[in-house]
Amino acid sequence: MNLNYDLEIEFNKIVADILKNEEFLKLRDEYHHGFTRIEHSINVAKVSFKWAKALKVKDYVDITRAALLHDFFTKEELHGKNQLIHPGIANRNSIKHFGINKRQSNMILSHMFPLCTTLPTNIGSWIITAADKYCATYECSKYKVPTTTVSVMVFLVNFLSIRL
Ligand SMILES: [Fe+2]
Ligand SMILES: [Fe+2]
Repeated sequence: MNLNYDLEIEFNKIVADILKNEEFLKLRDEYHHGFTRIEHSINVAKVSFKWAKALKVKDYVDITRAALLHDFFTKEELHGKNQLIHPGIANRNSIKHFGINKRQSNMILSHMFPLCTTLPTNIGSWIITAADKYCATYECSKYKVPTTTVSVMVFLVNFLSIRL
């Protein structure tokens, strides 16, 4: 995901401390839609940042940081449990390492909407859940799978995972 020069500079300032954090950097060894989880997280953060700025949302800094942290978990922390519990782990890790606020917690906990028990309660949550789906589709399409097929697959996998 590309940003123009000025936006890229501003984006880097907003997330600099997170991208230097040792715990967060563990996401470089985790895989997600064929990319590393850190690459996916940066994609979601850049898209959320761009959309929040375009919509003139005041707390775009908090939104950008929450977007970067939305998948802040490792496979090890899942303990083999269903993937759908990962927003809770990402939220705990983000509180512990970056002291996120309640609005940011909602952004992380609801990013799997509608496949989660926490509903999005603020504009940042809606932006991040949409950006996450947009990026997942974009990342899967890198494998030359048609977007419609990817969308159906994402839906089926999510549907099956709540049934299991
Ligand atoms: Fe996620
Ligand atoms: Fe994600």
